[in-house]
Amino acid sequence: MVALTTCLFTVLVGFGHLARAYYTEEYRPQFHFSPEMNWMNDPNGLVYHDGKYHLFYQYNPNGTTWGFMSWGHAVSTDLVHWEHLPIALECESDSNGNVLEMFFSGSAVVDVDNTSGFAVPVHDKKGRGRGKKKRYTKPMIAIYTSNYPTAHTEPGGAVIREGQQSQSIAYSNDDGLTWTQYEGNPVIESPPPGYEDQWNQFRDPYVFWHEQTSKWIMVAFLAMKQKLLIYSSTNLKDWSLESLFGPENARFGQWECPSLFPLHVDGSRSNEKWVLMMAINPGGLVPASGTQYIIGEFDGSTFVPDQADIYDPTQIPSGSIVFQDFESTSSTFEDLGWTATGDFVGLGPRQASTVDVWDIRGYLGTGVFTTYLFGDVAKGTVTSPTFTITKDYISFLIAGGSYPYNPLTAGTPDDNQVSFSLVVDGEIVHSQTGGNSEALVWRSWNVAGYVGQEAQLLITDANTGPLAHIHVDEIIFSDTPKDEANWIDYGPDYYAAVPFNGLPSDDRVAIGWMNNWAYAQNIPTTTWRSAMSIPRKMSLKTINNKLKLVQQPVSTLSSLYTRTLYSRTYKTLQSGQTNVPVPAPYNTRMKLTLEFKRGTVSQVGIILRSNSTNSQETVIGYDFLGQYVFVDRFKSGDNAFVTWQPNPYPGRFVATMPTKTTDVITLNIFLDWSSVEVFDGLGQVAITSQIFPLDDSADVKLYSVGGTASSVSVDVNGIKSAWT
Ligand code: FRU
Repeated sequence: MVALTTCLFTVLVGFGHLARAYYTEEYRPQFHFSPEMNWMNDPNGLVYHDGKYHLFYQYNPNGTTWGFMSWGHAVSTDLVHWEHLPIALECESDSNGNVLEMFFSGSAVVDVDNTSGFAVPVHDKKGRGRGKKKRYTKPMIAIYTSNYPTAHTEPGGAVIREGQQSQSIAYSNDDGLTWTQYEGNPVIESPPPGYEDQWNQFRDPYVFWHEQTSKWIMVAFLAMKQKLLIYSSTNLKDWSLESLFGPENARFGQWECPSLFPLHVDGSRSNEKWVLMMAINPGGLVPASGTQYIIGEFDGSTFVPDQADIYDPTQIPSGSIVFQDFESTSSTFEDLGWTATGDFVGLGPRQASTVDVWDIRGYLGTGVFTTYLFGDVAKGTVTSPTFTITKDYISFLIAGGSYPYNPLTAGTPDDNQVSFSLVVDGEIVHSQTGGNSEALVWRSWNVAGYVGQEAQLLITDANTGPLAHIHVDEIIFSDTPKDEANWIDYGPDYYAAVPFNGLPSDDRVAIGWMNNWAYAQNIPTTTWRSAMSIPRKMSLKTINNKLKLVQQPVSTLSSLYTRTLYSRTYKTLQSGQTNVPVPAPYNTRMKLTLEFKRGTVSQVGIILRSNSTNSQETVIGYDFLGQYVFVDRFKSGDNAFVTWQPNPYPGRFVATMPTKTTDVITLNIFLDWSSVEVFDGLGQVAITSQIFPLDDSADVKLYSVGGTASSVSVDVNGIKSAWT
């Protein structure tokens, strides 16, 4: 046995705060949750109980980078204003300062029926006296991963290896203020038979009460195996393995932070589906961290995904035309009708197995296109023959370093793109770079707006830096997109999202960590690091014959809105930029709703956090030709803090959203000091992105490109601080 102390250097979190200068540091979110100070990552133990939303979170009490992981705690009655509470579960060390246990991600439930036996009698007047039934507390139970950095023996006798991850529980009989760890911890010590070697990659239990079988269900991951483990229990202490699921869909990274929850289909109470939501890192839609979901059925034992939600990477949509599969590895590009420049002259497709990079995978057949020749030094272009666009989608497999096409630097000495692009009329209209990975994944472009036009595909490698290569395979033309996965958010900064327990199915609210492991520990904030997303209400909606998870910011956020600060409707709007005067401080924190119709225009959008020369700007808009919503943060301010190379931070984040010419497009944009979240009117698309602009870049401009937009309206409300 060892004497335990907490890892706290000093006790830093308090209840109160000084009235002045609170939450005013540069970039401090004004209507998002962030800890008073220090590092935060995943939301944990989201539970609604007795009128309060509890938010626990991964927290380092000792600094602004990851470490000494503990559970921070805050509560709210409206999901908008938060009260900080003392740390719930504090990292533990031995007397020599060796960290014995960190509290990794997990969930919380309220054990209303005292299945755990952790309830205690309530000592109040009402409960006492003859003939009165004794009243008991409703214990709050946290189920989390014990991450043990040092080998030791637990109080209950479990012999722990260095680096082990096991599942444990703790309970609170005072609504989450103070916690007792169960003496029988860990409750699940090791992964199941066949996966024993994953003893140090077994984590993130999400537990909920399953009405139909009257059991507790736990889902947890074997992170490196992309395996979901489903357990059941009647008392939260003894767990039996029910089944396993995965890998499916986005599967080239660690699977973390699962959740499984029912939602009504299209609002119908009689039709319920289950959603499996999970974080993947690396291997998100954009490097590195992302969140995907799969819809299916759950019977208390097995998760069966809907076939429509499983994207077998080896199958291409029926009726697809294979434009180029790069199987002719004895041909040159010229033989195939393609044109090469620079180091690619005279070369051709390669046998993937001979491409000398670490772990190239995900290609189809044996041949692949690659710009990796003699290391990353090769530079040049390879261009396809001209073809006529006949189908609505071009899909392809792609991998490599993240060096996006940047229209501002393309063709200049600063050009560093390593990209695969579609050229129509001499212009790049779609472009994709690699995900900082050697695993080829499916990506799709909607080209409906270009049907009938001539086009070429262009591969450009203008760079010799680290990972400065891409692989491309299986270029197909089809009527439907060939995607890798269902993404919950198309931006870079939405991770580890989990829903609240304790709310009904039709009031399912989730919160995500608004950051990305690619650069999370370096973002240029001072006393604290990381914020949570706006809490989002989730539902299932059929859109274009496909069931989709849709999201909207919780309605209570409107309690922070100012009166309308700007409202204007244009019957028609000519190409160009129009100033939208929004008074400070609300030019840096606002809700802006933009509505418009197609007209003859190709793109309509809003420029935020901009200056007079537009040398800084965050651009948000809809592209009618490419049929996508986007957030562009190439010029959003500081990005020099990113140490990971290739730097995945600068970029344009794109979400395909097909529309008809008559549709009214709505974009609801939520701008805070260092972030922007964009939702379309239905909530089918969400894009979350951090930005770190200069203070005086605060102009707002409406713009359109390529014609006349019709029925354009802009409405702005300021958003007051939730912290003052
Ligand atoms: C996800 C994650 C979890 C883990 C936690 C540790 O961001 O890696 O898998 O439990 O963070 O802080």
